[in-house]
Amino acid sequence: MKGLILSGGSGTRLRPLTYTSAKQLIPVANKPVLFYGIEHLVEAGVTEIGIVVGDTAAEIEAAVDDGSRWGAHITYIRQDAPRGLAHAVKISRSFLGDEPFIMYLGDNILRDGVKDFVDAFDAGGANAQILAATVPEPQRFGVIELDGDRVVRVVEKPADPPSDLALVGVYLFDHHVFEAIETLVPSARGELEITEAIQRLIDDGRTVHWQEVRGWWKDTGHLDDLLEANRVVLRTLERRIDGEVDDATRIDGEVVIEAGTTVTASVIRGPAVIGRNCRLENAYIGPYTSLADGVRVVAAELEHCIVLHEARIEGLEGRINASLIGRQAHIFATGAKPRAHRLMVGDGCRVGIGE
Ligand code: DAU
Repeated sequence: MKGLILSGGSGTRLRPLTYTSAKQLIPVANKPVLFYGIEHLVEAGVTEIGIVVGDTAAEIEAAVDDGSRWGAHITYIRQDAPRGLAHAVKISRSFLGDEPFIMYLGDNILRDGVKDFVDAFDAGGANAQILAATVPEPQRFGVIELDGDRVVRVVEKPADPPSDLALVGVYLFDHHVFEAIETLVPSARGELEITEAIQRLIDDGRTVHWQEVRGWWKDTGHLDDLLEANRVVLRTLERRIDGEVDDATRIDGEVVIEAGTTVTASVIRGPAVIGRNCRLENAYIGPYTSLADGVRVVAAELEHCIVLHEARIEGLEGRINASLIGRQAHIFATGAKPRAHRLMVGDGCRVGIGE
């Protein structure tokens, strides 16, 4: 079986970070989301993997390389524009050939991986197998409708969802999906929809099985989901302190501090992960926080946050909570009078001021 990871797209819901960077490379517990997908495929025995890339191709190729670090072999497939999930499959035809394949959306994370689903598909003789999970807001996803245990309808982001079972971003197909895709025309949002291809398979009498995902699953395309994925992964952390921590610092719980980092007169409450070459001084780092390499936090407090490379946070009175802070961002107290917020905010940013 081959693997196809979709890592193109535009990431509109995580702007401005995704203006300059791929959403699939945003780290969860200091590891890019995309790497979880690659690991899960390899764990399931799928090592021949195609990655569909778009405008952020160079960044993704630099991060993933040839896949040998996971024991995988990666082929990059260039998509000229985000023309839909089914379009991504269509342009991957020569890579996939007639073999069955597993398609994995590069911004999804499943706690328990995909091995059970791959094994079930291998054993089950279906033409397609889809995964679904019960969610509180099904209108944000593809939704499946069942008759007993049979899938009768799949619809993309319906205003009036027929059930609360959302399509998870992992699909298994045999070659019949290519014929189904040939019949599609772009949807109202201008994309070739994989949900419509699945509906076509159902209408043509092909066997479409479904399985429920019971462990947690997250589509990390939204800020709150990304922070929640970070919380869930950090819960599995085990304490490891490779950086330098002075005596005036208190560290509680499961905390990882990588080499080259110095911590002075601070409080760190796990689970939290601090990357390499960070500097924490008179700082409070609360639970469920990930700091990437080279971050500086001086006289400031953070919790439930993801902070990217080389950001600096200095001299703040209030605590920063549930936030995503971009690479080399600088948040600091001006100390100037009159007391005021002084901002240089990039296009599409969101700044929540809690006073
Ligand atoms: O996460 C599950 C949901 O994923 C499903 O419930 C929906 O049925 C499915 O359509 C999809 O919805 P999204 O709106 O979240 O898809 P998104 O545009 O975020 O794309 C998913 C991934 O595929 C993402 O890593 C970007 C990549 N992609 C997307 C498009 C549209 C491509 O590589 N090429 C594309 O043309």
